[in-house]
Amino acid sequence: MSKAKYTVTAALPYANGPIHLGHVAGVYLPADIFVRFLRMNHHDVAFICGSDEHGAAITLRAKKEGISPQEIVDKYHDLIKKAFDDFHINFDIFHRTSAPIHHETSQEFFKVLHDKGKFTEETSEQYYDETFHQFLADRYISGTCPKCQNPGAYGDQCEKCGSDLSPKDLINPVSTLSGKAPILKTTSHWYLPMQLHENWLRTWIKEGRLDGVQQHDPKAWRNQVIGQCMSWIDGGLHPRAMTRDLDWGVKVPLPNAEGKVLYVWLDAPIGYISATKQWALDQNKDWKDYWTGDRKLVHFIGKDNIVFHAIIFPILLKDHGGFILPDNVPAYEFLNLEGDKFSTSRNWAVWLHEYISTYPDKIDELKYVLTAIAPESKDAEFTWKEYQTRINSELADILGNFVNRALVLTHKYYEGIIPECGELTAADHQVIEAIHQIPGKIASLMYQYKLRDAQAEAMQLARIGNKYLAEQEPWKLIKTDPERVATIMNIALQITANLSIVLQPFLPNTATKLEGILNYKTKDWNDAGKINLLSSGHAIHNPEILFQKIEDDLVHAEVEKLKKSNQSNLKFEPQKMEISFDDFTKIDIRLGTILSAEKVEKADKLLKLLVDTGIDKRTIVSGIAEHYQPEEVVGKTVQVLLNLAPRKIRGIESQGMILMAEDIDGKLSFMIPEKPFEAGGGVR
Ligand code: 2FM
Ligand code: ZN
Repeated sequence: MSKAKYTVTAALPYANGPIHLGHVAGVYLPADIFVRFLRMNHHDVAFICGSDEHGAAITLRAKKEGISPQEIVDKYHDLIKKAFDDFHINFDIFHRTSAPIHHETSQEFFKVLHDKGKFTEETSEQYYDETFHQFLADRYISGTCPKCQNPGAYGDQCEKCGSDLSPKDLINPVSTLSGKAPILKTTSHWYLPMQLHENWLRTWIKEGRLDGVQQHDPKAWRNQVIGQCMSWIDGGLHPRAMTRDLDWGVKVPLPNAEGKVLYVWLDAPIGYISATKQWALDQNKDWKDYWTGDRKLVHFIGKDNIVFHAIIFPILLKDHGGFILPDNVPAYEFLNLEGDKFSTSRNWAVWLHEYISTYPDKIDELKYVLTAIAPESKDAEFTWKEYQTRINSELADILGNFVNRALVLTHKYYEGIIPECGELTAADHQVIEAIHQIPGKIASLMYQYKLRDAQAEAMQLARIGNKYLAEQEPWKLIKTDPERVATIMNIALQITANLSIVLQPFLPNTATKLEGILNYKTKDWNDAGKINLLSSGHAIHNPEILFQKIEDDLVHAEVEKLKKSNQSNLKFEPQKMEISFDDFTKIDIRLGTILSAEKVEKADKLLKLLVDTGIDKRTIVSGIAEHYQPEEVVGKTVQVLLNLAPRKIRGIESQGMILMAEDIDGKLSFMIPEKPFEAGGGVR
């Protein structure tokens, strides 16, 4: 039977920031391991990724950094691509959705669905920001979640409870652009009537059947993926808008669609197709071979992307026709960091590109740890302490120690030449049996997407090798029974050669190093499990230490670095919501002179001031009594916010506010003009 063919995709990262270890552990590394294994096991594979360069994630970031969306995606596309290259995540192509071929492909896709009548066009009232002249969808609007009362929910999703929302669901919605309450305004969009697809989706997801034909093995899908999909479908699917009123994105390819672009979650997954097209063009292949016929489509994603890959994209692919649907959607849970969620805004993250530049010779070490703790079935946590423990007591003490012992003894006893294998004992047979079985066990776990267990199984081979040498004690027998030692060492060396094969998907650099030392190389998974990989008389090279131990200093330094960057972020309040120039001109600040000051009774913090503003003399209650005595402030020139609505403080009407400088410890100081000024001058 010919081997199954695969098209493997890894979620397109938004080009709005660098990649952190959470992304790596829960999408890119497992996808890379899976693909490396498939290739060794003779499957035809295309491995597709690229950056997701549209949507509010990009435009809001551009606004924050004060540069254009194009500059943002150029900056982060390059940064992310380089980090993947340096980490040896070997995509066949790392494309981008701003590429013209992607715009054409997604427009064509949309047009086919439109012409087939798969969308409904609906006019409705939607939230609109009058200051920014923009309709507010997705991340452009926030408010209180109707399900969990989280006050920071977005127009598309509540990140706290995971509910899928639409802007109209939000309680007290505000524009994330202006911070103001939006108005309602009429607009029209193309909707995907998802409710029409509930029936086939149920059978396809739960039983793997589509139109009566078995498509995939539903038992191979992760429980949480099926669970999330079914809870969506059982809750009732609704029409979902496939277009947006924005100027950044793929233009809607229809007349009278000025100012409208495709919804980012329509164009992004089509990005897998357009990337395949570009790659096929470059390789002189036919892209259709990778999206049709007898081929398995596998999407590696994070759990927040499940609905888009297991419900919406399959609907789109089926509606379009001529495409295979995913064979599996291995979704990962989240990875936390040192007891807290990864957070870009709080800088609570280990960035992949920073790790690589600090530890360029510890690439495989990080891969090993991230696979060992991968959040396959539940959320997991990365700590630097565990990083150290896994490297020192597993990679160094088990794998490194076994390989080193086998190689050093071979040089010591046989000058680096593989000795002859003699008669086998029961203990040898037992070890050989284990060697035979391990590659099959790893393969079976791989096909079930249990990569964490698969790596543990590969490490099992090193454990077996260690135990074998410890029990056989060749160093004790070398004087009395050299023939027996030759057999023991031959078997130990066959184990090292097997390790150089089974470790390749997980630790490719280490496997290559080992191949170099053993002077033996194969890329064929079928060679794993054999015990005659190194023939007697074969010469090996000098051993090298495979893994250096991680010192406590590194752990302390990394934890401190994390805490420091987190604190320095907390020290200063983040910038407030952007305001327009118009907003700014509404503020009336003038220079005033304090004419008199007295303490407010029973209020330690307050002084009642009489201030000459140039246009009048008014009373202002100010919270400066803990910093200044009344007599110290009389005669001072101060900045006064004049047009603040009057309010009563301790029964006294305060008609404005004195502006003060406040340092990070809360100390207050007047902001006095450098030159003497008359009351009434303005502050601009
Ligand atoms: O969640 C995200 O980071 C998205 N950019 C993933 C997109 S995956 C695919 F559909 F393109
Ligand atoms: Zn919520």
